[in-house]
Amino acid sequence: MITSRGVDLPWLERRSREIITSLQEANGAYPASPTFSAYRGYCWFRDGSFIADGVSAVGEVASATAFHDWCARVVGHHAGTIRAAVAAAEAGHPLPDAEMLPARFTTDGELGTDDWWDFQLDGYGTWLWAAAEHARRHRLDPGRWQAAADLTVDYLLSSWARPCFDWWEEHSEQVHVSTLGCVAAGLRRAAIDGLVDGERALRAEQAAGEITALIEREGTADGHLTKWLGSDAVDGSLTALIAPLGLIPADSDLARGTIAAVEDQLCVEGGVYRFRADTFFGGGRWPLLSCFLGLAKAARSDRGGARDLLRWAAGTATDDGLLPEQVDGHLLAPGYRQYWIDRWGTPATPLLWSHAMLLRLAAELGEDAQA
Ligand code: BGC
Repeated sequence: MITSRGVDLPWLERRSREIITSLQEANGAYPASPTFSAYRGYCWFRDGSFIADGVSAVGEVASATAFHDWCARVVGHHAGTIRAAVAAAEAGHPLPDAEMLPARFTTDGELGTDDWWDFQLDGYGTWLWAAAEHARRHRLDPGRWQAAADLTVDYLLSSWARPCFDWWEEHSEQVHVSTLGCVAAGLRRAAIDGLVDGERALRAEQAAGEITALIEREGTADGHLTKWLGSDAVDGSLTALIAPLGLIPADSDLARGTIAAVEDQLCVEGGVYRFRADTFFGGGRWPLLSCFLGLAKAARSDRGGARDLLRWAAGTATDDGLLPEQVDGHLLAPGYRQYWIDRWGTPATPLLWSHAMLLRLAAELGEDAQA
C-alpha cells in the first residue's frame, strides 16, 4: 500500500475510518487506543470529541452521533458532581481538584480505578463544540443533547478560570491557553447552535467573550498564543484554536503569528512536537499535531502547506495502516525514551485521535489532498 509517491492516501483514509468505527464500543465510546497499556479501556472527552468531528466530516454520521449520545449519558450519570461543583463555586468554596470531573472515563462511563492526571476542563468545552459542529454539519436536532449541554455549560461557567491539567495532562498549577480556547469555543457554539437556550445561552456567550478577551490580554507573547497565561512559550495544541475550533479568526495577525511560532519552534520536516521541553517517550513528533497545523494553514488558504503536513502525518503509518501517537527520530529528549518504554511499552499505535485528525484534514483539503 506504499506507492512510489509515498503513502496511498485514499487507502489510509479508508483504513482510518475502518479502524475508528470498528473499535468504537457498541455504546458509542471511542477507546483512545485499544492496545496501549495506560489507555486501554478508557475514553477521553478530548480525544473522543475530535475523533467524532473527524468521522463526522467524512460522513460517518451515526458513529459521531453515537459518541455524542454516550457523552450526554456520561454527563447525566455524573450530574451530582456537576451540581456539587456549581454549588461549591457559588458559595465561594470551590471543590478540590480531585472531586471535579475527570478527563477520561471507562468506556462504560465510570470513573475507573487507575490514578490519572484527571482534572482537565478542555474536553467538556470540546465536546460542546463538536456536538454543535456535528449537528450543524448534518442538520441534526441539537435538542437531543440539551439536558447534558445544560449541565456542561453550568459546570464550565462555574469553573473555567481555575488552573487544571492541560491537553498533555501536565502543569495543573497553570491556566492553559488551549484549555481556555476549547472552553470558549464550546460555550460560544453551544449558545449559537442551540444546544442551550435562554438565559443560559446568554451567559455562555458572555463568558466565551470574557475568556477570549483574557486569552488576548494574558495568553499572547511576541504576536503568538502562549502555552499558559503569562508564559512566552508556544505549544503545538494552540493551532486548534484557529482551526478547527475557529475561536481565533484565521485571517488575524494572532493566527499568523501562532502558526509561524509553531512552525519555527516546534516543526521539523512536517512533524510537530507538543512543546520544546517535552520528554514523554523522548519527546517525539505527533502526527495529529501536524494535522492541526495543517487545518490552521488551510484556514488561511495555504493549501499547499496543509497538504505537505498531511503527507508527513500519513507517512507515519505502519505498513498495515496504523497511525501512532508519536514517532521516533529527531527526539527532543532521547534520554527519556527508554524510561517510558519500560513503564508503558512502545508508543500507542493505533491512536484513534491520530486517525481522526488525518481524516479531518483530508476532508478539509478534498481533492487537493491527493494532488
Ligand atoms: C495525551 C493526551 C491524550 C491521552 C490519550 C496522553 O498521552 O497527553 O492528550 O488525551 O494520551 O490519547
